Amino acid sequence: MPQSHPEGKKAGKEPSFRRPVRSFVLRAGRLTEGQKRALDELWPVYGLAEGVNQLDFEVLFGNDHPVIMEIGFGNGDATWQMALAHGEENYLGVEVHRPGVGHLLLKLEDNRISNVRIACEDAVELLRKRIPRNSLAGVRIYFPDPWPKKRHHKRRIIQAPFVGLLAEKMQAGGILHMATDWEQYAEYMLEVMHNSRDFENLAPDGKSCLKPEWRPVTKYEKRGERLGHSVFDLVFRRTA
Ligand SMILES: C[S@@+](CC[C@H](N)C(=O)[O-])C[C@H]1O[C@@H](n2cnc3c(N)ncnc32)[C@H](O)[C@@H]1O
Repeated sequence: MPQSHPEGKKAGKEPSFRRPVRSFVLRAGRLTEGQKRALDELWPVYGLAEGVNQLDFEVLFGNDHPVIMEIGFGNGDATWQMALAHGEENYLGVEVHRPGVGHLLLKLEDNRISNVRIACEDAVELLRKRIPRNSLAGVRIYFPDPWPKKRHHKRRIIQAPFVGLLAEKMQAGGILHMATDWEQYAEYMLEVMHNSRDFENLAPDGKSCLKPEWRPVTKYEKRGERLGHSVFDLVFRRTA
């Protein structure tokens, strides 16, 4: 599990090294005693060891059920609830924030959940290097960091090259489900998605859907609700 990500020095000091634009900044965040224990004892059960080989989902999960990847699960409360409600699906949760990973590990143990595996690394790199082509039955990205300032828009995870990467890794008919409480980001996502020939929007109005009942309310969503934000669920199908 990475403690930190290699970041380059400030531009100008070391011109030969270009810092990659990432969709996250690693927050320090303190681990509770329970989360520390979970990371020590439960990571070997649920955690994906870093590596370079393409993953074999049947080996990873011990069955051939459909695999849904959730990117940026935060504290994982939506992840474990979806996994508990859908034992016939496998969930690969990806999050770089270690306290969130610890929190989810504890919930998996408490609820005796066996259909979740966790990666604690950059989901973009994981997708690029280790996820086989046409393998994912679904991808869920709930309340990704909105990066509201214009100069930070390049950090938004939903970008044309990323959507192309998802298209490569998803099965035909697979569902990409995103949600945000940031209206301008919802519009940005729609623009990126509508420029892709690989996905079709399943919203009746060609924009956003009502929140499906089965999707748990996430921690960030509750915060948005407290601030009076509307929520936009964007649901797209990978075309054949
Ligand atoms: C705004 S939070 C939302 C968390 C959660 N989905 C929720 O709704 O409560 C976005 C999360 O995505 C994670 N994240 C952003 N980019 C990521 C990446 N490339 N790989 C893994 N996690 C990422 C961040 O660490 C952060 O926890």
